[in-house]
Amino acid sequence: MEMDSKKFLSGFINSMKDTLKIGNRTIVGIDVGLSAIKIAQIEGNKESNEFKLLSYASIPLPEGAIIEDEIQNEEEIIDALNKGLAKIKSPTDLVCLGVSGPNTVVRRLQLAGGTVEEIEDQVIWEAEQYLPFEIEESSVSFHIMGENEGGGVDVLVAAAKNTVLEQYKAIMEKAGLRIKIIDLGIISVINVFELCMGDKLDEPGQSFLVVDLGAQKTEFIIYKNNMIVFSKEIAVGGIMITEEIQRQMGVNYYEAEDLKITGDENGNLPEEILEIIDDVIEAFFSEIKKTIDFYVSSTSDESLVACYVTGGSSLIPGIIEGLEALLGVDVGVLNPFDGIGYNEKKFTEQEISEIAYRGVTVLGLAMREL
Ligand SMILES: Nc1ncnc2c1ncn2[C@@H]1O[C@H](COP(=O)(O)OP(=O)(O)OP(=O)(O)O)[C@@H](O)[C@H]1O
Ligand SMILES: [Mg+2]
Repeated sequence: MEMDSKKFLSGFINSMKDTLKIGNRTIVGIDVGLSAIKIAQIEGNKESNEFKLLSYASIPLPEGAIIEDEIQNEEEIIDALNKGLAKIKSPTDLVCLGVSGPNTVVRRLQLAGGTVEEIEDQVIWEAEQYLPFEIEESSVSFHIMGENEGGGVDVLVAAAKNTVLEQYKAIMEKAGLRIKIIDLGIISVINVFELCMGDKLDEPGQSFLVVDLGAQKTEFIIYKNNMIVFSKEIAVGGIMITEEIQRQMGVNYYEAEDLKITGDENGNLPEEILEIIDDVIEAFFSEIKKTIDFYVSSTSDESLVACYVTGGSSLIPGIIEGLEALLGVDVGVLNPFDGIGYNEKKFTEQEISEIAYRGVTVLGLAMREL
C-alpha cells in the first residue's frame, strides 16, 4: 500500500472520528432531501444528555431540484437555504451537513486491527474492494468502534464521492455558510435513535432495524450490541407513489403530492389514491424484504427484536402494519421528542408532528458538536 493513498483519508471532513459524539456547540444542521431542505438548531449537552430544539425550518424544494443527491438546480437550492436561514435566524454560519445517496457509502468492516496506521491501510484496502466509485475520486473516513469477538477491530467506514462534496461546499458558500462537519444522513438518524432508546439498547444480542422512509430512497440500519452492524440504501421512496398518481390521474407533481398527503376537502384519501398507494407499497415491501433477507442470509442473524421507522413516507397509510407483517416484529415510529425537548410556546403541535416524522435526520445533524 502506497503512503500516498492515505490522502483519501484526510479529505473527508474528519467527521467520523467523533461521529457518535454529540454535544453543545452552536452549529446548524442542514439536510437536503428530495422533498425539502430542513434546517435545525439544537442546544444540548452530552454530559447531561439533555437536548433542546431551538429552531427548525423545512422549505419545500421544487420538483427535480435534486436527483439522487446531485443538485440539478443550484439557484433553487440556494433560494430555499436562504428562506430557511431567515426563518431560524441562526447565530452562526457553521454547518453540519448530511449527505446520502448512491454516491455515498457507510459500512461496518471487521478488520485485523493493529496500530492506527495499520488500520488505515486496511480501511483503504477494503474500501477499494467495495466502493461503488473509484477511491481516487472519493473521501473516506472511519471510526474505530472497538474490538470484536474475533480479536480484530470493528470499524465504521464512511465514504463519499468528491464531486458531491464539492458541489455542496460551493452551494453552502453561496448561501453564506461554512461546512464544518459532513455526516451521512443515516448515521445522524442513529444519533437520535441512541438518544431516544437509552439503555434499552444495552441488552446484548438484540438487533434493531431502523428505517428512514424518504421521498426518493429508503435507508436501513441494523443496530446491535451498541453499534451499527449493517447499512443499506435502496432507491425506493414516496416519490414512486406521487409519480403513479401523476400518471394515473393526469395531475402535476404538486397536485399529486397534495392528493397523496391531504386527500379531499374532508381530509380523506379517495379510493383511487388508496388503490395506487396499495399497489406501490407492494413494490416497497418486496424491495425491503430483499434487503432484510440479504442481511439475514449473509449474517445468520435471527435476533431482530423491533423496527423503528422515520421519514415522511412512514405516514403512508398501511405502511406500519405492512412492515409488521413482513418482519414479524413490532414496528414503531421513532419519536425524536422522546429524547429531545422543545419550548411548547415556540412550536405548534402541527410543526412538532411534522418534525417528528420528517426532521429526525436534521435533528441528528444539529446535535453534533464542533
Ligand atoms: N401524510 C403523508 N402520507 C403519505 N406520504 C407522505 C405524507 N407526508 C409526507 N409524505 C411523503 O414523505 C416524503 C417526504 O418525506 P421526507 O421529508 O422524509 O423525505 P426527504 O428527506 O425529502 O427525501 P429523501 O430523504 O428521500 O431525499 C414525500 O414523498 C411525501 O410525499
Ligand atoms: Mg430524508
